[in-house]
Amino acid sequence: EKKMILDLDTGVDDALALAYAIGNPDVDLIGVIASYGNTTNQIAAQNTLNLLHLLGADDVPVFIGEGHSSTTDHFDVMPISQQIHGKNGIGDVELTTAKNQVSNQSGVDFLIEAAHQYQDKLIMLPTGPLTNLAKALEIDPAVGQLIGQTTLMGGALSVPGNVTPFSEANIHQDPEAADVVFRHQENLTMVGLDVTLRTLLTKAHTAEWRELGTVAGQKYADIVDYYIDAYHDLGINENGAALHDPLAVAVSIDPSYITALPLNMKVTYDNQTGDYGRTIGDTERLLDSTTAQAAVLVDQKRFVPDFQEQMLAVL
Ligand code: BDR
Ligand code: CA
Repeated sequence: EKKMILDLDTGVDDALALAYAIGNPDVDLIGVIASYGNTTNQIAAQNTLNLLHLLGADDVPVFIGEGHSSTTDHFDVMPISQQIHGKNGIGDVELTTAKNQVSNQSGVDFLIEAAHQYQDKLIMLPTGPLTNLAKALEIDPAVGQLIGQTTLMGGALSVPGNVTPFSEANIHQDPEAADVVFRHQENLTMVGLDVTLRTLLTKAHTAEWRELGTVAGQKYADIVDYYIDAYHDLGINENGAALHDPLAVAVSIDPSYITALPLNMKVTYDNQTGDYGRTIGDTERLLDSTTAQAAVLVDQKRFVPDFQEQMLAVL
């Protein structure tokens, strides 16, 4: 059985990735690392604990990840993130506070230990900035070969970014860290805006969650309706919101949801040229054996109903 680590900046679509992973019988979620991004790492950790409790999965441990990018010493949540995810990261919906607390071990130490313990069986799944994985690679470079598979939500190759014309939010938070990951992490799949913006969830879906009559169904519907409204109000999409983070989870388990290009990539972070946070082919390594895949097409007609079916079973 595959072991999975989620590295979330919890976050509405991160919350969906969490529920989707818990509901998947083919993977064992061995831990969640709480990152900064949509909100702070501390709020992300509390959101994760509360969501796990809501989903009846209190046994999954939560670890605190890095609280800011690898080149700064503090982090401020972007106003746009608060508009999309709410001030508390999960659509300003109040959840019952879980009794569980975060682990004493740091997220980075947990990741390094799990890489050695599970090796090929381990799926690393970052859906926020790549700071924790880059830190682990810096402390213990063997992690780059040990982890069986890394599938990340982030980047944009064939479509524009969502923070700048070139840069997607997770990469934009810490492009230096992302560059370390793209250069040194083997068996890497990038699930970026190229595909995630084509997988949309609507209020017709969340209405079905409400009809379940469960607390989890109602809370998740409230959280996601906030996100769908934000997509509408910000003019990103008329009536649907992107399943960014859960698509990455799905692809890590069933790669046939996407078509990917074998492509070694790097991340640029030159502020002068405006190339900050761009995911692009690494020309110096193009002839090397390919260690990365970039998702460019997705079978959304299959993924979205499959996602909904699994959510109805979990909620
Ligand atoms: C990514 O950025 C975050 O806001 C979302 O949770 C997702 O991981 C989309 O660009
Ligand atoms: Ca995220």
